[in-house]
Amino acid sequence: MTNFEICKDVYWVGAIDWSEKDFHNFTTPRGLTYNSYLILDEKATLVDAVKHKFVKESIEKIGKIVDPSSIDYVIVNHIEPDHSSGLPDIMRISRDAVVVCTQRGKEGLEKYYDCRNWNFMVVKDGDELKLGKKTLKFLDMTMLHWPDSMATYVVEDKLLLSNDAFGQHVASSERFDEELGVEEALKWAKMYYANILMPLSNLIKKKIEDIKKLGIEIKIIAPSHGVIWKNPEKIIDAYERWANFEIENKVIIIYDTMWHSTEKIAMRLADGAASGGAEVRVFHLRKDSWTEIMTEVLDAKSIAIGSPTIHNGLFPPVAGFLAYLKGLKPQKKKALAFGSYGWNGNAVKEVQKVLEELKFNTMEPFMVKFNPTKEELEKAFKLGVELAK
Ligand code: FEO
Repeated sequence: MTNFEICKDVYWVGAIDWSEKDFHNFTTPRGLTYNSYLILDEKATLVDAVKHKFVKESIEKIGKIVDPSSIDYVIVNHIEPDHSSGLPDIMRISRDAVVVCTQRGKEGLEKYYDCRNWNFMVVKDGDELKLGKKTLKFLDMTMLHWPDSMATYVVEDKLLLSNDAFGQHVASSERFDEELGVEEALKWAKMYYANILMPLSNLIKKKIEDIKKLGIEIKIIAPSHGVIWKNPEKIIDAYERWANFEIENKVIIIYDTMWHSTEKIAMRLADGAASGGAEVRVFHLRKDSWTEIMTEVLDAKSIAIGSPTIHNGLFPPVAGFLAYLKGLKPQKKKALAFGSYGWNGNAVKEVQKVLEELKFNTMEPFMVKFNPTKEELEKAFKLGVELAK
């Protein structure tokens, strides 16, 4: 597949990055896509560019539909380099195109690139741009997920070009949710939400309410990553669930270990939680993907985090993970800090501190000296049962 008409006179001219497995620390086992869209009308319009590595490929796709030098408008919904780093090459060809973005978008582009020869049109929430038969309406998406972010709604097609929102990091030859499988698309969208958008959940709830109040009908959502939603209600419903931190009957045990003492506690916690009737997932911080862990944390009802004590403090992989967890700000969890120590239990105290900062419903921290005894393992089992309650 090279070009793809997603609705009448709107084409996908993006790129598939099959081989990228790490997107600034987001593990992408299936790769990802950079979606760019070309709208044909009296004014030819490109919506979002692609990562620089793929811009030649994108320009070739555009060239099969329209002369790239004749593009009238380039809409920049978001300036992060995965979408904007191909822009300078586009602007070298589409010299007369007007770059349409927010004020913050313009300021950001001027920091990233030499834009002295670019013509800008700064837009704000609710502004409209007539392309001929089609009308673009710009929707403010400030902090979803950068200060410059906006979305573009094609009024006549009821098409929302949402940029990062509703995206998924998955490379596929399929362009639509129904082709990849709606459930499969939701799985990747959940991973994207948990690792990029979770800290913005309160804003997301409000933005969905605002869009609903506007009364605009959305038939298709075309994000800048992953497949296009022909079933927009599915992903909007999921976003509402995730933004409200609706929980599943699931307990997540996350740990690292030096001499297996913390690991022994983790396994007994897991046994206890399973016997309490919860779905249980256990993750080792140097063996499992943090991206996957956070995806599971999103809708877990309880989490337990374990660390051995080293150099009077946290085991470094646990410290790193706690920084990641704190930034992503999950909500509404019962939580337990646990671990082992030789001289003091500072690591477990540090874990507890972070769990309290996140305003989780914390249990009494559990720590053992050197190696857990039979009685201590029995206690861990009971704590696991408690986590499942
Ligand atoms: Fe896909 Fe925020 O960039």
